[in-house]
Amino acid sequence: MRRAPPTLGLIQPRKIGFPFDPAVIPRHWVNGKAVPTAMVNALHLIFPKGERFFVRSVRRYQDQISPGLREQVRGFFGQEGRHAQEHERFFAIIEAHGFSVDRFLRIYEAIAYRGIERLAPDKLSLSVTVALEHYTAILAEGAFEEGELDHFHPAVRDLLAWHAAEEIEHKAVAFDVLAEVDDSYALRMAGMALATATLIGFWALGATMLIRQERLGVREVLRQFKELREHRSLLRTVFVRGMREYLRRDFHPWDHDNLALARDYLAGLDAA
Ligand SMILES: [Fe+2]
Ligand SMILES: [Fe+2]
Repeated sequence: MRRAPPTLGLIQPRKIGFPFDPAVIPRHWVNGKAVPTAMVNALHLIFPKGERFFVRSVRRYQDQISPGLREQVRGFFGQEGRHAQEHERFFAIIEAHGFSVDRFLRIYEAIAYRGIERLAPDKLSLSVTVALEHYTAILAEGAFEEGELDHFHPAVRDLLAWHAAEEIEHKAVAFDVLAEVDDSYALRMAGMALATATLIGFWALGATMLIRQERLGVREVLRQFKELREHRSLLRTVFVRGMREYLRRDFHPWDHDNLALARDYLAGLDAA
């Protein structure tokens, strides 16, 4: 198995608490536009339940893995738990701006967790987590390299940059757990298929349910969607590059060492 860069060390959660204030964060905090804001707000809504699912799916196997990896798993749990908490705190900002989020959250919970997760074998759930961690790591890299966060309100930019940096730090943890538990290529591919379908499905559903509450009219929604052309290249990168890399039989998340991106940002955060 390939190793993480020696500078990674022990993965550690950081104490954090972002000062979210609906009087400071505007309703349309991405570029002042409704549609891109809805698309990122949908991610805020998806993340907390998703990250708790990641933790559950890995926890089932923590007694079956090597001691060194178990240490990293502990750090992974801590980081994902805090991400979930901070994104959940952001729900209050979305609601303060007049959006109802409960209906989406109920549908998402019912289908993804009371439905698919209960029916899926534990190993498949773990494999879905591994694939989603791969997508998240590419999204995180894009956040730093493509300057995607520059369009965001600073208070939300801080939350997403912190999250992105820690996603890069722990990007191989779930993968390494799956590799120790069952390194079947077919299992990894099945997880990728289910992860891709559910991520696209719930992301689109969440964004659509938020956009409908804007009462914008189809023409304006399409106009704003067209303006997203340059950002859509990031989405293409996530899914196309994501799948291309993941399909390689000998793929490992640290084949691409981008730890410096995360550490440069986190060094500033730790100092602050
Ligand atoms: Fe996370
Ligand atoms: Fe993660």
